[in-house]
Amino acid sequence: MRQDSLHSPAELLIHIEQAIKETKYPSQPASLYEPISYIMELGGKRLRPIMLLMASELFNGTVKAALPAAMAIETFHNFTLIHDDIMDNAPLRRGKQTVHKKWGTNTAILSGDVMMVEANKHITEVHADVLKAALDTFNATAQGVCEGQQLDMEFESRDDVSIAEYLNMIRLKTAVLVGGAMKLGAIVAHACKEEADLIYQFGESLGIAFQLQDDILDVYGDPEKFGKQVGGDILSDKKTYMRLKLQELASADDLNQLDGLKHDGDKVNKVTALYNTYNIREEATAIMKKYLDDAFAALEKISVDNSNKEPLTMLANQLMFRES
Ligand code: IPE
Ligand code: IPE
Ligand code: MG
Ligand code: MG
Ligand code: MG
Repeated sequence: MRQDSLHSPAELLIHIEQAIKETKYPSQPASLYEPISYIMELGGKRLRPIMLLMASELFNGTVKAALPAAMAIETFHNFTLIHDDIMDNAPLRRGKQTVHKKWGTNTAILSGDVMMVEANKHITEVHADVLKAALDTFNATAQGVCEGQQLDMEFESRDDVSIAEYLNMIRLKTAVLVGGAMKLGAIVAHACKEEADLIYQFGESLGIAFQLQDDILDVYGDPEKFGKQVGGDILSDKKTYMRLKLQELASADDLNQLDGLKHDGDKVNKVTALYNTYNIREEATAIMKKYLDDAFAALEKISVDNSNKEPLTMLANQLMFRES
């Protein structure tokens, strides 16, 4: 039977926005804390905390008990965005100036660091009987993201990255956080280990699909809706699935052309034209769908009534058609 207590993503979002508004940071030094309020209040989809709360409700947990973990995850996510934008030399985030462009790189580093501390303060507010499990999962997640980000940067200067290496890199930089968020939701709801691992699998596969979609939007997104610089991955020579697939499929002539584009002023348009020639967007969409199927296979195995899984299924499907 479907639980009456399940909230829609829109209802959960209201709880999260409220908790973000109520979180107070010290006022001094202003230049350390202002960037935190700035990034946290720029919006964003709040996907990870919503999914954490949904995972918790799937196992009969309450929003109240899960909110500290949801806040920890969203604060951590926003911290990674500040540092990621430094590493990716990105000018725009959520349609606004990035923190390092507005306040300088050194402040962006330190504001990010203190956000990690703030994230930890949120996690310590979970119920004492799940604190160790929650902290262990949170730490493992955060460490995975750092490993993925390091690989992502190293791959920029390598030309022999395999698709398996790429998939492992996005698993670490993005998918462990989506999986970890959902596992935290299960933990604070006192789900058993097997169920927590299955919801992690769901989140991890969904996270891989999510990053594949992010990489597609980086090339094909509408700049107005995407909120980030379109073509940024091409400019930094990111080894995305699309780029690796192009290297696999392109003719010798086209590969030569690609090699010659490193410092070309029209690089974004020229690489995009090559993607179009080889139907690379379709290739990337196909593998994204495969990971979405993997996610649903894990969700299927969770032993709660199927009707209670409907909100998660709907949200996961919607994410694949997002524009930002
Ligand atoms: C951006 O995440 C970083 C990636 C893993 C691609 P989101 O697309 O969830 O960013 P916001 O929080 O909605 O802005
Ligand atoms: C996302 O990678 C991973 C993290 C932010 C940890 P991207 O570099 O693709 O994210 P966006 O596109 O800048 O949001
Ligand atoms: Mg980036
Ligand atoms: Mg990045
Ligand atoms: Mg991206």
